[in-house]
Amino acid sequence: MQTSNPTRTGGTVSDHDEPDYRQALERFLASHPAYQNTTHLDELRAKDYSRLDRLGHVYLDYTGGGLYAESQLDAHHALLRDGVFGNPHSHNPSSLAATVLVDEARETVLSFFNADPAEYDVIFTLNASHALKLVGESYPFGEGSCYLVSYDNHNSVNGIREFARRGGAEVVYVPVRKPDLRLDADLIERGLTQQTPCPHKLFAYPAQSNFSGVRHPLEWIERAQSLGWDVLLDSAAFTPTNRLDLSVVKPDYVPLSFYKMFGYPTGLGALVARREALAKLRRPWFAGGTITLASVQDAGWYHLAPGHTGFEDGTVDYLGLPAVTIGLNHLRSVGIEAIHERVTALADWLLAEMTTLQHSNGAPMVRIFGPTDTVDRGATIAFYLLDPAGEVYDVHRVEQLAGELRISLRTGCFCNPGDGEIAHEISRDEMAGCFAESDVPVTLNDCQRLIHDATGKVPNTIRLSLGIASNFADVHRFIRFAEDFRDRDAPSTMEATETR
Ligand SMILES: Cc1ncc(COP(=O)(O)O)c(C=O)c1O
Repeated sequence: MQTSNPTRTGGTVSDHDEPDYRQALERFLASHPAYQNTTHLDELRAKDYSRLDRLGHVYLDYTGGGLYAESQLDAHHALLRDGVFGNPHSHNPSSLAATVLVDEARETVLSFFNADPAEYDVIFTLNASHALKLVGESYPFGEGSCYLVSYDNHNSVNGIREFARRGGAEVVYVPVRKPDLRLDADLIERGLTQQTPCPHKLFAYPAQSNFSGVRHPLEWIERAQSLGWDVLLDSAAFTPTNRLDLSVVKPDYVPLSFYKMFGYPTGLGALVARREALAKLRRPWFAGGTITLASVQDAGWYHLAPGHTGFEDGTVDYLGLPAVTIGLNHLRSVGIEAIHERVTALADWLLAEMTTLQHSNGAPMVRIFGPTDTVDRGATIAFYLLDPAGEVYDVHRVEQLAGELRISLRTGCFCNPGDGEIAHEISRDEMAGCFAESDVPVTLNDCQRLIHDATGKVPNTIRLSLGIASNFADVHRFIRFAEDFRDRDAPSTMEATETR
C-alpha cells in the first residue's frame, strides 16, 4: 500500500481533450438529457466567468459564496461612473437619484421572488445573519412563548435561541435523522401541535440545508401558520439554485444573502417579511433613519417609522444596492430553473460516482452525509474520504491537496452543528466535554480533538457545492482528484490538523 500524499495534478482544463474526459462527458450527457437544455450556461461561463478557466480554478464552494459574472461588475461600475449619487435621506437631485436606485432594488427583490408588495416588504441588511438578528432581537419572545427550531440550521438561526431564552421562551429542537439527515415530518407535526398555548410562537427551519443539501418540505409553512406559528424560512442556501415563489409559499420571515445568489456585492442581504409579521416585531432601539421623529426632552419620545424604514439603521448601502438589481436581473436572464436543472444533473452524476468509488480491496472511498440521490436535495454534498481500512482521511489535508490543484472545497462544520453532531454520531455527553468550562473559550479544533481523543470519532466534514457557473469539467476534475486517494493510507488525521 502507498503512503498518503497524492501528487497527480488531478486534471487541468486541458483534460477536455483527453479520451477519458470525452467518454465520461458522453456518458453523462446520455444519462442526463435535460442537461442539454442548459447549454447557454456554457456560453455564459465562457463569456462571463472566463476567469475560472483562464486561471485554472475549479470552484466548488457556491454554498459558501456564489460567483459574480463579469458583466455584473461592468454594469455596476458604468452606473457609478456615469451618475452623481448622494445620501438618499434628502431631496436634492443626487439624493433623489440614489433614492430611485434603492427603490428599484427593493422592487426588484419583490418581483424576483414573486412577492406581492401589498403583502411583503423588504428590509436591506448586511447579510442573512443580520436579517436573522433583526427577527431574533425584535420578536416578542416572553414567558410562555416558544421557539421551535430544527437541528438542521445555520448558527445564525440557532443564535436566535439566546433572544428567546432571555425573553423567557421555551426553546424546542427537532432532530434530523440518519442517514439522510432529513427532518421527521411526524416530529415536526408533534412540535407544532404540542406548543399550541404559547402566545407568540416562532418556527424556524432552512429551505435547504447548507450542510447536507437536503431540501425540507415547504408545505410545513402553511401547516405551521394554520396552528398559529410565525415561520422563519432560512433561504440563504436555497435561493442560489432554487425558485422561491412567495405567491405560492408565504413564510413570515425570509433571510437572504445576495453574495450567495450572485457573488457581488458582498455585505448586502435582506429580510423579506410579510407586512403583518413585520408589524409584530418590536425593535429594541431606534437609530438615524428608522424614526419619523425623536425628542431629547423626554427619553420616551420617539416614533418608529412603519415598514422597512423602521428596520434599516442609518444610511442604506445606496451605492451597493444597484448591484443587487443588476445581480437579480442577471439571474433572471440566465433562469433559476436552468441553474437548478444543471446543478441537479451534475450533483446526480457526482453522487453516483462518489458512491461507487472503491479501493482495490473493495472498500468504499467516500462516505456521504445526507441523501445519495437528488430527490429533494440540492447540489451541496457533505462527505469524508476514507482509506482502504475505513480510516478517515484528514479533511484539512484533503482541502490543502485540493487547493494545490486550485480546487476550492470547504471543510469544517459549516456553522451547522446540528447536522454535524447527528452525521458524526456525537452524543450529548461527548459534546458536554466542550462546554465543561464556561469561562474558557473552546475552539472548534479543540473540541474536535477532545472528541477524537475520547472516542476516535472525526467530527469534521468536507463539503462541495455547485452553482451558476458549474460545468461537467468541474465535477469530473473533482472525481479525478478523489480517485488519487485510491489505496492510500490515511495519516494520523488529528496530527495533520494540528499543522494548520
Ligand atoms: C443556510 C444559511 N443560513 C444563514 C447563513 C448565514 O449567511 P451570512 O454568513 O451571509 O450571514 C448561511 C451561510 O452560509 C447559510 O448557509
